[in-house]
Amino acid sequence: MSDGVTAPAPDPYLAGLRLAGRRVVVVGGGAVAQRRVPGLLAAGADVTVVAPRLTPTLEPHATTGTITWHERTYADGDLDGAWYVLALTDDAAVNARVVAHAEARRVFCVRADDGARGTAVTPATGRQGAVSVAVLGGGDPRRAVAVRDGVVEAMREGRLDTLPRRPPRVQGATVALPGVAVVGGGPGDADLITVRGRRLLAHADVVVVDRLAPQGLLAELAPHVEVVDAAKLPRGRFMAQEAINACLVEHALAGRFVVRLKGGDPYVFGRGSEEVEACVRAGVPVTVVPGVTSAISVPGLAGIPLTHRGVAHEAVVVSGHLAPDDPGSLVDWPGLARLRGTLVLLMAVDRLPQIAEILLAHGRDPQTPAAVVQDGSLPTERVVTGTLAGIAGAATAAGVRPPAIVVVGGVVALRERLLPSSAPATAPGV
Ligand SMILES: C[S@@+](CC[C@H](N)C(=O)[O-])C[C@H]1O[C@@H](n2cnc3c(N)ncnc32)[C@H](O)[C@@H]1O
Repeated sequence: MSDGVTAPAPDPYLAGLRLAGRRVVVVGGGAVAQRRVPGLLAAGADVTVVAPRLTPTLEPHATTGTITWHERTYADGDLDGAWYVLALTDDAAVNARVVAHAEARRVFCVRADDGARGTAVTPATGRQGAVSVAVLGGGDPRRAVAVRDGVVEAMREGRLDTLPRRPPRVQGATVALPGVAVVGGGPGDADLITVRGRRLLAHADVVVVDRLAPQGLLAELAPHVEVVDAAKLPRGRFMAQEAINACLVEHALAGRFVVRLKGGDPYVFGRGSEEVEACVRAGVPVTVVPGVTSAISVPGLAGIPLTHRGVAHEAVVVSGHLAPDDPGSLVDWPGLARLRGTLVLLMAVDRLPQIAEILLAHGRDPQTPAAVVQDGSLPTERVVTGTLAGIAGAATAAGVRPPAIVVVGGVVALRERLLPSSAPATAPGV
């Protein structure tokens, strides 16, 4: 233009690069390279880094051969054979040279210190399942990150629907069903479900929910979602699991996407494996989403780590739903009594007197610290502490009711150091 007014540079064209097996040259081995290399490797790129030094995180990639490292400054010829280049040094002159060399070879090049002078820009990217998002912020990287975060969060929470739009796959004469997701919901607080669990829940047609699953999540479900209360399924106590299995299968075979929402982790005393087996037997597609088990998280939230250096090198999770002398019990109580580490007892409130007794009878120190945590992670949470010798009486006196977790071991005493402001309900003797 003759009047000296320069037109704004056109927006970059967003594209996805297929880099698998293709040579990508990264010039610079510092903090920016550390952030870019994982994405390039995830795309399958054949990454070469040219830099006199690498960050401690990047270095193992070089020693294991995941990347090729030229341990020196940039030299002419380094871009030979490259499909894509990133100039990421903190030396503007070097970056400018790299961009110029890349341009001469007609290879796109990102320039970290002055994005506008590169021939490519790195967008803020995010991923949710199979969906990727890339955001350019019009020269404002923080804006790009903020928008990216908002979109990814909306996808994760199910506010932005990412379900596939392609027609269902047809296998022979049968259409593939949406199936069942057996989801571990964590110990009860709605915030302690996994991101994947929450996303699947947002897409459910039917939710079959346990009593100990995070009930707060049910309020978020759309009105059309059918909620089946598995705690109150008909046909009696011993038929209940069969009835749950049948319910999952029936809904899935009717073409609905079923989320089986459970407390904790489905495979920790959760009978999740029986439900998965029932689906597999019925030919229903099924997926398992692990959850935050109460066995670890409930003590942890109450200030009790299951292991601690110098205190416990083992933690054993045990079901106390059967009395130690019950012929059906599979637990080696005398063996557990000989352990010095941490014992975590689930479903043990009713049998606690007999359990403490057998542990003491087989040699566990009566002064071993012990705690009972009821309603972990919920507003009604409470903790009773004591010794192994006194914990059953203390729990009874405090009126502890299920669900509760019993922890036995030296780690219980750490609670006072880790939760100094709490005022634990403490049994006499500790
Ligand atoms: C049938 S088991 C299910 C365990 C679950 N699958 C898990 O991984 O947490 C039920 C037992 O888990 C423990 N439990 C589950 N949620 C709890 C919570 N919020 N607070 C204390 N104990 C809990 C109790 O011992 C309860 O009796």
